[in-house]
Amino acid sequence: MSRKEFWFSVIFGMAVLLFLGCGTSNKAVVNPAVNGGPAFDFTSRTVTLNNGIKMPILGIGTYRLTPEEDEESVYLALTDGYRLIDTANVYMNERAVGRGIQRSGVPREEIFVTTKLLPSDYENVDKAIDDTLARLNLEYIDLLLLHQSFGNYVEGYKGLEKAVADGKVRSIGVCNIYEERFDEIIKIATIPPAILQNETNPFVQQSEMREHVRPYGTILMSWFPLGGRVDNFNNTQTRLFNNETIVEIAEAHGKTPAQVILRWHLQSGNIAIPGSRSADHILENISIFDFELSAAEMQKMSALDTGILSLDFRNNIDEISNFLSPNVPMDFNAQE
Ligand SMILES: NC(=O)c1ccc[n+]([C@@H]2O[C@H](COP(=O)([O-])OP(=O)(O)OC[C@H]3O[C@@H](n4cnc5c(N)ncnc54)[C@H](OP(=O)(O)O)[C@@H]3O)[C@@H](O)[C@H]2O)c1
Repeated sequence: MSRKEFWFSVIFGMAVLLFLGCGTSNKAVVNPAVNGGPAFDFTSRTVTLNNGIKMPILGIGTYRLTPEEDEESVYLALTDGYRLIDTANVYMNERAVGRGIQRSGVPREEIFVTTKLLPSDYENVDKAIDDTLARLNLEYIDLLLLHQSFGNYVEGYKGLEKAVADGKVRSIGVCNIYEERFDEIIKIATIPPAILQNETNPFVQQSEMREHVRPYGTILMSWFPLGGRVDNFNNTQTRLFNNETIVEIAEAHGKTPAQVILRWHLQSGNIAIPGSRSADHILENISIFDFELSAAEMQKMSALDTGILSLDFRNNIDEISNFLSPNVPMDFNAQE
């Protein structure tokens, strides 16, 4: 083979591989230029974080359930194929989550566990992590987040970085944070946040924050992805599920509004963690990998953004910190 023929076959081979890769259906439907992050892989249902670790793009949330309900919903979710679990020490359910994981029989290395620390832990991160690991009955946490951006969050973030160095935590990130405080963390960070977990749904699309964190490769993870519970704050879930545009798109695909909203999160490049105590809903929420929203439908959904948060961490951070920050540290070990 001549030199010319050799290079021709190399270039031709690469072109074929590229063509085959792009042709894979349902893969990389997210346009990184639009959403400001790496493409979600809809085949493996993962995204590669800014530290090279793969994270599932759809998971189960565990907020506001009883320990029994939490254990059952984690068990059902893992049985249905979910591989991401979102909890927090303040949810008082880490033991129940650990039991659900054990019961499922799914190997630890296949599961991605996210948990969070409260401001009362920020100056004592080491101990808080050891306690969380003991409650979860795990040897490491896949993703640890600062739950709130008040108190000594800068010190808290340094504690997270130390936990990565100590091998107790694999990825770190932040929640409920906006430009100014995010930048404060970036100034001291040696490990940029892998995840930003903020309230996000079609009425609150977080486009500005997504743009803001783009340079650091930080990915948005949506809390209240379905608008939260029906009794939460602004009736967001009821308004989402009855929204004309969402209902119309759902009917066109033979899907439910919940499924359309979750698919919208993933195609927008948001990791979603819907919570549910219902076996039917848990299965319904993961049955979103057999359809795709068109560009026109995504555009219609984009137009629904109002930017109105249920809990306004953007503007009322000091007010919120008054009622959310426990002055007396909570006894997280007092859970079933
Ligand atoms: N970082 C933070 O500050 C923060 C704050 C809030 C939440 N979170 C995390 O985000 C997760 C998600 O939030 P969330 O659970 O509060 O709210 P959500 O996921 O937006 O909505 C949950 C509600 O939707 C209902 N639901 C779920 N699937 C449904 C379906 N297919 N059809 C109809 N209804 C459905 C559930 O009822 P059923 O039980 O009847 O299914 C439940 O009442 C939490 O669990 C938690 O892990 C984080």
